[in-house]
Amino acid sequence: MVSRVIPVEVFDLVIFGGTGDLARRKILPGLYRRFVAGQMPPDSRIIGAARADLTEEAFRALVGEAIAEFVPPDRQDKAAIAAFLARIGYVSIDAKGTAGWDALRAVMRADVVRAFYFSVAPALFGDIAERLHAHGIADGQSRIVVEKPFGRDLASARALNVTLAQHFSEAQIYRIDHYLGKETVQNLMAVRFANILFEPLWKAEYIDHVQITVAETVGVEGRGAYYDKSGAMRDMVQNHLMQLLCLIAMEPPYHFDPDAVRDEKLKVIRALDPVRPEDIVRGQYLPGGGQGGYVEHSENPQSRTESYIALKCHISNWRWKGTPFYLRTGKRLRARASEIAITFKEPPHSIFDDAKGWRENVLVIRLQPNEGMNLMMMIKEPGPGGMRLMQVPLDMSFADALGADAEDIPDAYERLVMDVIRGNQTLFMRGDEVEAAWAWADPIIAGWEARGDRPQGYDPGSSGPEDALMLMHRDGRRWREIRE
Ligand code: BG6
Repeated sequence: MVSRVIPVEVFDLVIFGGTGDLARRKILPGLYRRFVAGQMPPDSRIIGAARADLTEEAFRALVGEAIAEFVPPDRQDKAAIAAFLARIGYVSIDAKGTAGWDALRAVMRADVVRAFYFSVAPALFGDIAERLHAHGIADGQSRIVVEKPFGRDLASARALNVTLAQHFSEAQIYRIDHYLGKETVQNLMAVRFANILFEPLWKAEYIDHVQITVAETVGVEGRGAYYDKSGAMRDMVQNHLMQLLCLIAMEPPYHFDPDAVRDEKLKVIRALDPVRPEDIVRGQYLPGGGQGGYVEHSENPQSRTESYIALKCHISNWRWKGTPFYLRTGKRLRARASEIAITFKEPPHSIFDDAKGWRENVLVIRLQPNEGMNLMMMIKEPGPGGMRLMQVPLDMSFADALGADAEDIPDAYERLVMDVIRGNQTLFMRGDEVEAAWAWADPIIAGWEARGDRPQGYDPGSSGPEDALMLMHRDGRRWREIRE
């Protein structure tokens, strides 16, 4: 059963970049769903703010189109859409100038939660933050939400933190990593800390290795210009995969409380060893299947940017010393599949003569699609003829376990925006955490830039470059198959 909906406080949410892609695809359709679910109080308002000179009606029409396109048809309800659109306003604003700011102040209410979503290029964060203050629109209770990329290295992330800190305290800043809003990602914490079963084994003594895979089938077409300056390391590893790694590796926080959780994640990032060049494989997808390859999509024939990366890292602390974490992510791979697999070690001694069928216990946490968990166990092969072993999954698919309620699980953005209004920062990144993640990533990127490394080509629809297989093979291990 999906937990009951507790309405948040009445709010005014301003979305800077309200006409942009993220607002259209995720933020506005997500808010509509929270409105229908009864979590967004009907008296709340959403105010789009962007450069475009639009009337309120025109913006509402855009929001209506976004709902039509991105909310499943069976969740669209005419009356609800009309009621939702009535809560939408629009202000045309110049982020770098003076136009529109007084108009925005005039529409904001004093006695409700005020939140400001910066769904714009990071270069505008400082301008907007400053103007929100200068025009008396934000106060000490207001919240701001900032999207990734939060910088492109340690220096730029620090500069962004300094700029935001001039106008907002850390308790007011919500840095989004949408992976933390995914239901299964949060479930990782429930699995670890609400069960006695795993935690005693959750350490190097019993865990052979951990694999984190985020595989996508999409390429970078349409966003090649951004992506080519970023690459898989900056776009996915420094943030999303790093967050997953933290949730697996962190110590139990004393409480499910924003700073308690974030303190523990920070310790993991700080305990990461530098990654050796031989423990990284970068790839770039080749043309295939009637489509261009990465260099065509990025419109940069000389590009050395990676659309795939696999790496092995180590955490130097008592719990994890000696257990490698293998991370991989890439575009245009054979399936869209994200999972975390924890492979346990062999029992210390086998009592069975014929241990041929023996395989490791593996706990697989499926993030998407087909969210759920699988625990690969050894059992006796049924039938007479001696004691032969076979591996079977203890399977818990959320769709099966939750039935129809599984469809009502909120999308990551829905959950996170509601957390902003509730004032709960647990699933948002703290400034020092982002900086620590860049401090780990920077030397890796600097290393391959200095060496002039080129990513290895891989076929679209494959599992990535050949060398990535070797990364595991040479340790006597294998990647799990990428499949839906
Ligand atoms: C974004 C990246 O943060 O996450 C994209 O910029 C990537 O490149 C996306 O495709 C993946 O998100 P999801 O939720 O589809 O796994």
